[in-house]
Amino acid sequence: MSITVLGIETSCDETGVAVVRDGELLADVTATSMDEYARYGGIIPEIASRAHLQTFVPTLDEALERAGVALGDVDAIAVTAGPGLIGSLTVGVSAAKALALAAGKPLYGVNHIIGHLCVDELVDGPFPEHFIGLVVSGGHSSILRAGNIATDVEELGGTLDDAAGEAFDKVGRLLGLPYPGGAHIDRLARLGDRCAIRFPRGLSQGKDKARHPYDFSFSGLKTAVARYVERLAERGEELNREDVAASFSEAVCDVLTAKALTACEVFDCDTLVIGGGFSANSRLRELAAERAAKAGVTVRIPPIRYCTDNGAMIASLGWELVRNGVEPSSLDIAVDTGM
Ligand code: KG4
Ligand code: ZN
Repeated sequence: MSITVLGIETSCDETGVAVVRDGELLADVTATSMDEYARYGGIIPEIASRAHLQTFVPTLDEALERAGVALGDVDAIAVTAGPGLIGSLTVGVSAAKALALAAGKPLYGVNHIIGHLCVDELVDGPFPEHFIGLVVSGGHSSILRAGNIATDVEELGGTLDDAAGEAFDKVGRLLGLPYPGGAHIDRLARLGDRCAIRFPRGLSQGKDKARHPYDFSFSGLKTAVARYVERLAERGEELNREDVAASFSEAVCDVLTAKALTACEVFDCDTLVIGGGFSANSRLRELAAERAAKAGVTVRIPPIRYCTDNGAMIASLGWELVRNGVEPSSLDIAVDTGM
């Protein structure tokens, strides 16, 4: 039986709407309010919520038109219920409820982080029986163990403070780079020496590591970079931004890949799926490929347009839920910012 799912994503600054039919992406349309935030140095939740209100209907119309599908033709509506910004989530969930009610379709409130993994199926084909997921972005840094993506996903660990992309954006500010700083640091890092400064690797040694094998902490690292920059300024020495960027990137990517591959070993998984906007990072890709090859693990990373927030990831997960016979959500679901 053919299954068509409409996916809606509004957890942060992207308004994403997509249609997936039987594991095939028919349309994926994204609008973003990111351009508004450079002058503030960070996302302003109220601006993001307002932007979703303005862009939702045009984005929906375009996605349905490109897919050649009418709302009445879809079998279910999936929407991000969390985690994310409460105002942004509320716009998408309210819209999805209205559509579900008006068209008489089942509604699925889904987890955004699992969506970041599920989009990879649209590109790289069906998942193996078991795999490890690493989802890294400006809002999250999580390691997950997955069996059936619809019914058996467990978060093994996540960040205790900043997300990886968030740490990059904060260090970007310290180095005087525009917001969001992640891609700028990546560019500088390629010109620097990653062994120049030994920055701390949070939760990677001794008791901390034993207690938090799959958790991350990047705030100490961010403080170490800030101290390093301050010390040089006090001494009147010149800052080598390329070396700082390279050494900082190395510290983050070392921990991310080491912990993800430990999870592969412990849970006997030979596939690592990486998602989230931070997976654009060149050092992360390089280290993951290098370490995975040594460990006999296959790395799957979808193209970058599917790593940043989009509707396809939610439509893909919704399609998995429907075909696995998972019960729909009730129409009174709340959003869950910390889901
Ligand atoms: O997934 P995404 O678009 O939005 C969130 O859900 O957060 O991820 C954006 C984050 C930002 O923090 C951005 O600075 C970071 O990913 N980022 C990068 C790179 N490209 C984007 N960080 C490091 N290196 C990159 N090449
Ligand atoms: Zn995301």
